[in-house]
Amino acid sequence: MPAARTNVAVVGYGYWGSKHVRVLSSLADVSVTVVDGNEDRLAEAAHHYPAARLAGSLDAVVEDVDAVVVATPPAAHTLVALVALEAGKPTLVEKPLATSVAEAELLVETAESRGVPLMVGHTFEYNAAVRTLRDIVRSGSLGRVLYIDTARLSLGRYQRDVNVIWDLAPHDISIVSYLLDEMPSSTSVWAQCNIGDRHADVAYLRLQFPRSDAHAFVHVSWLNPDKVRRVTVVGERKMVVYDDMSDNERIRIYDIGVDPAEVDDPSSAHAMPVTYRSGDITSPFIPFDEPLRVQDQHFVDCVRSGATPATTGRRGLDIVRVLSATDRARLDGGVVPVDDGPVAITEPAPATVIVEQRSPVLS
Ligand SMILES: NC(=O)c1ccc[n+]([C@@H]2O[C@H](COP(=O)([O-])OP(=O)(O)OC[C@H]3O[C@@H](n4cnc5c(N)ncnc54)[C@H](O)[C@@H]3O)[C@@H](O)[C@H]2O)c1
Repeated sequence: MPAARTNVAVVGYGYWGSKHVRVLSSLADVSVTVVDGNEDRLAEAAHHYPAARLAGSLDAVVEDVDAVVVATPPAAHTLVALVALEAGKPTLVEKPLATSVAEAELLVETAESRGVPLMVGHTFEYNAAVRTLRDIVRSGSLGRVLYIDTARLSLGRYQRDVNVIWDLAPHDISIVSYLLDEMPSSTSVWAQCNIGDRHADVAYLRLQFPRSDAHAFVHVSWLNPDKVRRVTVVGERKMVVYDDMSDNERIRIYDIGVDPAEVDDPSSAHAMPVTYRSGDITSPFIPFDEPLRVQDQHFVDCVRSGATPATTGRRGLDIVRVLSATDRARLDGGVVPVDDGPVAITEPAPATVIVEQRSPVLS
């Protein structure tokens, strides 16, 4: 039973881990232990959070904390999370849960066999706009969802250990499967490595959702001039655009649509095989609450109450299965099923995928 004050170790004080430390430090009755293998990062943490305890490795402090947040680069998630889970500490692992299905399964099995809560940081499932969008989709007001299009683009942070799909698409796969309440059954992928020779930095995924009879098209890029964070849901009756970059109209509902029509006079120059419906564009009010704060508060609440988190380790494993399928789809060049067994994460050989090498423009 945790003490009244909950001590959370955040492992990895980098770009995202520092945000966890900021958010957790602001929560009531939470104290933070910052763990990082890099002394410069610890010095930075000490400067901003003089009250925080510091450590160079999780092993040194794991017995003294109530819970652990893993915010290291993805390739280190499994080893760090195993230290936490084997010590019986509720653990929140950043997305993606792990870099292979086998490692994600190991984490889930370790957590479940020991009865330790395992949560994954699918932050967008704690985003009020995404929750509103899900309510709209589930209300049926859009009619049948025909397809969903997502774009997550910017001049992004090139990662060392994963490609752009494993880095960014966990968010979009989590959003579309949350909206449709279903995991995709198969995927096909087009991806390209433009800068350097290591990882794909631009990719398009096509995900099939059999029960909904819908598709999602996911575009992710580290190589785009402006920042785009957009989800478009096209329904038979209405359409919705969720633009996470918008200040005050993050969700716009378009009462528009297209119906097939009989062409009476095919010889007419203006005859069209469809008719258009157009109506209002409305935007519901969505109060802003930082999604990471909502997520970390939920994690702390689960640590204190013993409740099962909304985004469990199993949900993280489901997303890793889709990511793993994208690796196979790149090798295969066609449509591959998602649940076709574990495969370690590897970059396909250049000869087997469409890869155009260009001169590096970023150092
Ligand atoms: N949920 C989100 O919206 C979101 C956004 C960005 C990043 N992330 C995730 O957060 C994680 C961290 O990403 P980042 O961009 O902050 O990485 P980063 O490279 O900026 O920081 C990683 C930090 O971890 C430290 N580290 C590495 N291995 C360690 C170990 N074994 N023990 C202790 N410290 C270790 C490094 O010294 C570094 O300070 C990734 O899993 C990433 O996918 C999530």
